Amino acid sequence: MRKIKQVTVIGAGVMGATIAAHLANVGIKSNLLDIVLPELSPVDQKAGLTRESKAFRDKLAQGGVDKALKARPASFYVPEDAKLIRTGNIEDNLDWIKESDWIVEVIVENLELKKNLFQKIAPYLGPEAILTSNTSGIPIQAMSEVLPPELAERFLGTHFFNPPRYMKLLEIIPGPRTRPEIIRFMAAFCEEVLGKGVVYAKDTPNFIANRIGVFGMMDAVQTMVDMDLTPEEVDRLTGPAIGHPKSATFRTADLVGLDTLGHVAKNVYDGVPEDEKRDAFLVPDVLKAMLNQKLLGDKTGSGFYKKVGKNILSLNLKTMEYGEQKKVQFESLKATKGIEDLGQRFAALYYGQDKAAEFIFRTISASLIYSANRIPEIADDILNVDNAMKWGFAWELGPFEIWDALGLEKSVAKMEAAGYKTPAWVKEMLASGKKTFYRTEKGVKYFYDPISKNYRAEPDQPKIILLPSLKDRQKVVKENPGATLYDMGDGVACLEFHTKMNSIDADLVNMITDSLPLVAENFEGLVIGNHAPNFSVGANIFLVLVYAKEKKWDELGGMVKALQDALMAVKYFDKPVVAAPAGMALGGGCEICLHSARVRAAAETYMGLVEVGVGVLPAGGGCKELLVRNTESLFEVGRGGLYPRQIELKPFVARAFENIALAKVSTSAREAQKMGILRPTDKITINRDHLLADAKKTVLAMSAEGYSPPRPKDDIRVMGREGLAVFNHALYVMNKSGYISEYDRVVAGKVAHVLCGGDVLADTIVSEQYILDLEREAFVSLCGNEKTQARIEHMLTTGKPLRN
Ligand code: NAI
Repeated sequence: MRKIKQVTVIGAGVMGATIAAHLANVGIKSNLLDIVLPELSPVDQKAGLTRESKAFRDKLAQGGVDKALKARPASFYVPEDAKLIRTGNIEDNLDWIKESDWIVEVIVENLELKKNLFQKIAPYLGPEAILTSNTSGIPIQAMSEVLPPELAERFLGTHFFNPPRYMKLLEIIPGPRTRPEIIRFMAAFCEEVLGKGVVYAKDTPNFIANRIGVFGMMDAVQTMVDMDLTPEEVDRLTGPAIGHPKSATFRTADLVGLDTLGHVAKNVYDGVPEDEKRDAFLVPDVLKAMLNQKLLGDKTGSGFYKKVGKNILSLNLKTMEYGEQKKVQFESLKATKGIEDLGQRFAALYYGQDKAAEFIFRTISASLIYSANRIPEIADDILNVDNAMKWGFAWELGPFEIWDALGLEKSVAKMEAAGYKTPAWVKEMLASGKKTFYRTEKGVKYFYDPISKNYRAEPDQPKIILLPSLKDRQKVVKENPGATLYDMGDGVACLEFHTKMNSIDADLVNMITDSLPLVAENFEGLVIGNHAPNFSVGANIFLVLVYAKEKKWDELGGMVKALQDALMAVKYFDKPVVAAPAGMALGGGCEICLHSARVRAAAETYMGLVEVGVGVLPAGGGCKELLVRNTESLFEVGRGGLYPRQIELKPFVARAFENIALAKVSTSAREAQKMGILRPTDKITINRDHLLADAKKTVLAMSAEGYSPPRPKDDIRVMGREGLAVFNHALYVMNKSGYISEYDRVVAGKVAHVLCGGDVLADTIVSEQYILDLEREAFVSLCGNEKTQARIEHMLTTGKPLRN
């Protein structure tokens, strides 16, 4: 059985170092090699280094790791994992390659240099080792030529996107001689172990995502010039309005670097003499002018935009000077406001009547036709193209999904009337009566295949459970406007939230309460999970504000009590409940996880109890759970005979206090474990697509082992008023030294009050319900304060916390 236990990454620049970091994230050791610099710098000399010093010889590789450690967003799940990377150089450490199962080349984009490197390292590769290149556009075939034949069979392209931890796409590009078994193995490894979304590309210039994405960018520049639009206008039209990231077209271009963009475009131009749109890859005059003036984007401080103080100015393409951004106003754009469904919003713009709509019509039509004309040149099917654009450029819909949303027949009619040429296979498909690229039947998704001229079912993916497909197959057990309970099969149920941002309201709480008896009767256990970007952003604070403003304290208390009761029922339910968070699990979302028997978290889970940001405290059992978790192991039976009172509680309670009072949020699931919000026994899934299936497996495993709920906790030892005095003193000092505001002190004081068990003697023993009651009282009393109401209002209107 092939297994990748050790990797050598060659090239420690932007990509190499962060690929090594991601390997470390998933627990794989790597060697990171770079060249030895030609000479000592003055700093090296001052530090007493010589050409023989390891610190000098490994400087580039070590520098790569140091940069990856500083990168924001973070390259590492937790910085400690950097110790899994061993740094070296390609003169002294080629021997390390011998033990490596995978060698990935990530050096500068230059064919000659890459070929030289391959010739140099080939003798060191073990007989089974796999060799890949991270090139973004050099033909795999050209590199393959210099390899011994038996090594060429184990060589392919693995094209990661930047930054490798966060960008889902990985393009796999087989070389002319790659063995199919090696391709299958690497695809499975990258998907399952590294958590990537794998797309199969052909060995054509810039593969799939960059070919289509750069075409779109170049076309957007030219169309902007032709239509006399500004960069900020184009960015407003090509961002979230059409399901693209906020950085839209030109913020993205500035980030990538206009020089890089120019190189990539030239690489396509040179490599595709037959392309019907080849000229689109010629660098337009305005870009040339920008390149000449070194307006390269973020790396030179100015590109399409330039930050001056707090202001972001935009480039006037006629005068090449920077000025205030123009207010973007278009009727068609205004008309899309409030249309939630992306397809409908897209269509409203595409079929609109003003200049903005004209821009969208021209660029999107060009891009859709270009994509269709690239099949089978760059990929075998539309699925690989759509996935590449969604995962590599973070588009919500791929080109063919967009086309379906616009209505294929209607859009083709509009395009043809405007003189666009419909790709032959699309015309043929329409003529045969097939009006969509995708269709779903009985929960199975089919896509049109221009080669067989028929629909093909998407490949079966047993590791992926899709809730909408369960709905299609009539697997809904119960639903209300905020949540749905599904039958996931094999005796496991799944509770999905679907309120706005998955905020917790009465529907959602009712569904938790109503689900438990159904699960008790008909299932082995329950998964709580969903497909939304965020598991749950916490309580619906709008409702909290309404009750507070209307002084409905009983209703407010009742609302909190309902959540507390529901989560206590989850905690003591006699079948396993597994929460499966991904993205944000904040406030009440975090509390749901804290009360589940086990958590199966996506690696990218951002968890924390952030309530103090809006002037309240965790009152769904969050304070109670962190208190219990941080102290319970001190008193467990069998913990070595210490008389409990000999153990000082403060550092343990302080850990819970810091998490809550500083509103700490983990930057990964691994970090949540470090913070004590997840348990060491909670499990992590790297590939989010596999999360629900993994959570289901966890339920089944727990059930098979004979699950029994935890024993009731009625023996919580608290610090009482003595402990509270210690916390209050610390808060007083922090306030006086200007670290926290007076009101921060009030809110944090309430947190301390709850965590210390209120006004009782030190070492009093209390129950969970007692702490829950303290949480609830504190919550309601804080809501009565104007400053809390101001914090909530500010969060609702700006999305940011107010420090008052
Ligand atoms: P970079 O310029 O940041 O780093 C390249 C590194 O390779 C440098 O540290 C350099 O010292 C080292 N190097 C050069 N020759 C070497 C040799 N013979 N042996 C060992 N090390 C050598 O480049 P970057 O951006 O990391 O790109 C690397 C590769 O990844 C290129 O093929 C690029 O096309 C590809 N790529 C880059 C992406 C990006 O966004 N930067 C995205 C996807 C792919």
